[in-house]
Amino acid sequence: MSTQGYLLPTKQVRVTDLQALKGQRPWAMLTAYDYATAKLFAEAGIECILVGDSAANVVLGYDTTTKISFDEMAMLAAAVVRGAGNALVVVDLPFGTYEASDEQCVRSATEMLHRTGGHVIKIEGGVRMASRIRALKAAGIAVCAHVGFTPQSVNGLGGFKVQGRGDAADAVRADVTAVVEAGADMVVFEMVPAALAAEITRNCPIPTIGIGAGIDTDAQVLVWHDMAAMFPGGHRPKFVEVFGEVGEQLIRTAAAYKKAVAEKTFPGERHNF
Ligand code: KIV
Repeated sequence: MSTQGYLLPTKQVRVTDLQALKGQRPWAMLTAYDYATAKLFAEAGIECILVGDSAANVVLGYDTTTKISFDEMAMLAAAVVRGAGNALVVVDLPFGTYEASDEQCVRSATEMLHRTGGHVIKIEGGVRMASRIRALKAAGIAVCAHVGFTPQSVNGLGGFKVQGRGDAADAVRADVTAVVEAGADMVVFEMVPAALAAEITRNCPIPTIGIGAGIDTDAQVLVWHDMAAMFPGGHRPKFVEVFGEVGEQLIRTAAAYKKAVAEKTFPGERHNF
């Protein structure tokens, strides 16, 4: 498929390039978890790829993101970096690998970047993670913070709930102020009211990346399995838009292969040696 007409980065996208887009035009972040999809998304001109710990659910079939291990994340992220071309690659630190101390966080982030070649480390939390962000920045590591609904804390948050409604808005504002003051390079807002995300974005010096946070953030992110309907008929959060029926297409493709094998129309003469 031609990607003519798309904005294709012609050189490595850097954090500073995305920061420079603030107030200019929105940009797209999309998850990827392997070489092939990273390569396709880079060809589509996606500026920034997130190796999210959502891999736990959509790649490994776990029932929670907290189950994915450091080694599993590192293996997936290394494959993504090999396919990502000029896209900036952000890698999640998995649950349990950064919460104990600033030292643990820097050790985990350093090893993740060593093993994968990724560019930016993402950790979940605002005020409570400010010292981790400071420590990462002191170690020369670019940081993406993640506030609002933070899936690794789903149990502490009482389930999948919008964060920052009514009086709770101040807690989200405080989280963003804390990550900005700590030196974060960009920040994901997950499931916060659109008006709050818009207000914070206006006053925030770093790029805001929304998922379920309305139209006015500086960038958007989606889990690719959601936006490509990889699980036809499966549950999708309210904030997801389906941009292509890839799951259905893959089922049809596999069924066509099965039929050809059963009917002995494949392999044909032209496939023979
Ligand atoms: O793990 C992930 O995919 C994420 C996005 C939902 C932002 O953190």
